[in-house]
Amino acid sequence: MYLGIDIGTSGVKVVLTDNGSNIIGSETSDLKVVRENIGWSEQEPNDWWKATNEAIFKIKDKHFKELKNVQGIGLSGQMHGLTALDERDKPLRNSILWNDTRSSNEARFLDEKYPLFRNVCGNVVMPGFTAPKALWLKNNELQVFKKIHSILLPKDYIRLLMTGEKCSDMSDSSGSLWLDIKKRNWSTEALKATDLSIKQMPNIVEGSEISGKLKKSIADDWGIDGRPVVAGGGGDNAATACGLGIIKHGDAFISLGTSGVIFLATDNFIPAANDGAHSFCHAIPEKWHLMSVILSATDSLNWLSEILCRKVSEMMEDLDHINQGPSDLMFHPYLSGERTPHNDANSRGAFLNISRNANTKDLIRSVIEGVSYAFADCIRVFENANIKPDKLIAAGGGSQSERWLEIISTVTNTPIEIPTNSEHSAALGAARLGILASQNETDINSILLKPEIKKTINPVINKSDEYQQKLNSWRDLYSSIKETKE
Ligand code: XUL
Repeated sequence: MYLGIDIGTSGVKVVLTDNGSNIIGSETSDLKVVRENIGWSEQEPNDWWKATNEAIFKIKDKHFKELKNVQGIGLSGQMHGLTALDERDKPLRNSILWNDTRSSNEARFLDEKYPLFRNVCGNVVMPGFTAPKALWLKNNELQVFKKIHSILLPKDYIRLLMTGEKCSDMSDSSGSLWLDIKKRNWSTEALKATDLSIKQMPNIVEGSEISGKLKKSIADDWGIDGRPVVAGGGGDNAATACGLGIIKHGDAFISLGTSGVIFLATDNFIPAANDGAHSFCHAIPEKWHLMSVILSATDSLNWLSEILCRKVSEMMEDLDHINQGPSDLMFHPYLSGERTPHNDANSRGAFLNISRNANTKDLIRSVIEGVSYAFADCIRVFENANIKPDKLIAAGGGSQSERWLEIISTVTNTPIEIPTNSEHSAALGAARLGILASQNETDINSILLKPEIKKTINPVINKSDEYQQKLNSWRDLYSSIKETKE
């Protein structure tokens, strides 16, 4: 038996599996985000630990016998969160999360002054990443900064409590922006640029390697016999890729979650920083990935649901009844700023062309279209790097709407495959890494399998010209809005 633990932003998900494909049980425990100021987003690290235990105890209640036999555990989690610890390994403050944009000045400063972030660390410095957050701490909370003994990412803080080890994996560490992506090692220069040193960083292993063993006291508490190994694991997107078998050069998935992601596996390090794409290590050895990220995918729908006082599930049902082809309205989904392609933390959302006749369904439709156009921008970034995926596997809550996938497929001109089950991909991917670590498995392909596909959504050819025209106007809107703000 194997466990995958995914430390998400809205909750911790735990999956129990016997072979990395068959799910015996899965449980979630919710988390809250603290937003003290506009653009701020924090969580209390010990809440992750409480939620992890809650979810494990729910598994224990239902699958006591199976849980006893767990031999390997994998961790995945929300990336980039700055979790600063003192010399007793206690968090110095709340963790500053991936979707917190307070460090935009520090990000701009680092990006302009140190070309190595783009060339060696593979990315434009964006406020979502850990390095500018650390510089923000230095500039704004010097007393806290001075006490930093070590810095961990969210899932790695949980690993510390589980194993006593300070360790991370290559994929998650890539998002810190302190990693030399090609060499798969910490960059002392990148650390120096933020006044930190390698002594404050955890050890790093590949996602499929052993990072430590579960503490005996915790194994006893969780009802596990012996001390299972804990794999390096992965950042949530790399772990999802492991859960969906996205391993070979050119394999790709699209995730419609709170944030929207297109993830493309590669055999080498392909920087595409100028287009706002992320070049990170994969969670398995000698593999990398390119990733485009939009910050408000289903979160744009969540926002609309709050404004309209309607449930997201009802709004998704409405979508099934809309006509094919673009609507008259336009929506920019940059509610929390944007990463790919604009790298503009201060950009905000917009509606255009609302007429007196516009109704709720029109708003829903244009939000869905706006997010789909943002995905078209993400695919264009891959095209610019000469590596467009042939097809995408769909994951994330939003992928339940076939109509939404149809629009994305048409505007990106890419077929999208819907798996029979992709609900637990990140946690399942983590559990699969737990299998590889515990079995010292070298045949990665036999564990990181592709899911069963229930349906393929193809571009609607007779609508693609109309969508293309609309996409062009939608793209122009960004520069017009930016000009009016300047
Ligand atoms: C990736 C990213 C998000 C978070 C949230 O760069 O910021 O996908 O990992 O889950």
